[in-house]
Amino acid sequence: MSDVITLENVKIEREGGTTFIILNRPEKRNAMSPQLHLDMCEALDWAAEDDATKVVVITGAGGNFCAGQDLKLYFRGTEGDPKLRARARAAAHAWRWDKLSSFPKATIAMVHGYCFGGGFTPVIACDFAIAADDATFGLSEVNWGIIPGGLVAWAVTQVMNYRDAIYYSVTGDQFSGKEAAAMKFVNKSVPLEELRGATLALAEKLAAKSPAGVRYTKDAIRTVRNMSREQAFDYLNAKSDALKYVDPEGGRQKAMKQFLDEKSFKPGLGEFKREA
Ligand code: COA
Repeated sequence: MSDVITLENVKIEREGGTTFIILNRPEKRNAMSPQLHLDMCEALDWAAEDDATKVVVITGAGGNFCAGQDLKLYFRGTEGDPKLRARARAAAHAWRWDKLSSFPKATIAMVHGYCFGGGFTPVIACDFAIAADDATFGLSEVNWGIIPGGLVAWAVTQVMNYRDAIYYSVTGDQFSGKEAAAMKFVNKSVPLEELRGATLALAEKLAAKSPAGVRYTKDAIRTVRNMSREQAFDYLNAKSDALKYVDPEGGRQKAMKQFLDEKSFKPGLGEFKREA
């Protein structure tokens, strides 16, 4: 009996504390239909509350990450149906940015094969991204006469420098996983056969840390980018205070005791013993 939810266009798999949420339309290179967007919203809501899920990996079935929005079902298919278009757009935005970028657990995009257009947004919204060396990224919108809409143009400027953002958006040129790593669009790239192992190694490293510490740290890094120095100082002080009270593990107190009293760990070299 499976303890994961079943969805039409999204597959969920577990490996230890890592939950793979997999775009699952391999025959369409995981192009995103309205149903896939709705399924992704459901999958992320489920994973956020699922106690066994410590880290979420977003990836695609059949050797590709995602061929972008489904031109047939997302664009043409909603042209005469404003209600469906609005619902699809809201769901597309909700999971690819709002839900992922504020996800309460660490998230990793694992990119192999093709990643085009609207597929960029979830890669950027995840906390981490690891690609296969030979993955193919492309802002292909310009090739068929549209702009990188639906937040894509904004999202790429969060992680690409200005020259790269303009270059790849306007030329539509592809870049490889290796090039993506060199420009820091992803954290790193590895040979395809090592992709799952490298992703799981990162997931396991994250899962070993204090969940509250991981959550508050990633929230802090993301949020302060859009704040003034004064706002950031105040916000970070308030977050630090809040963390003391919301962390059910009492990590700070435990770690202090282990370092200062028991001398049983060194914060500079690894995490405190959470079970102690
Ligand atoms: N929207 C709708 N259908 C898509 C799609 C998309 N974005 N990407 C792929 N598909 C469909 C194809 O129409 C084809 O369907 P069919 O078997 O019913 O004919 C199927 O997926 C396989 O695609 P195909 O082009 O035959 O595979 P390929 O491996 O030779 O090429 C791509 C893969 C991704 C390079 C190519 O399909 C492509 O360029 N897709 C569009 C990518 C894009 O520009 N996305 C941005 C949208 S914002």
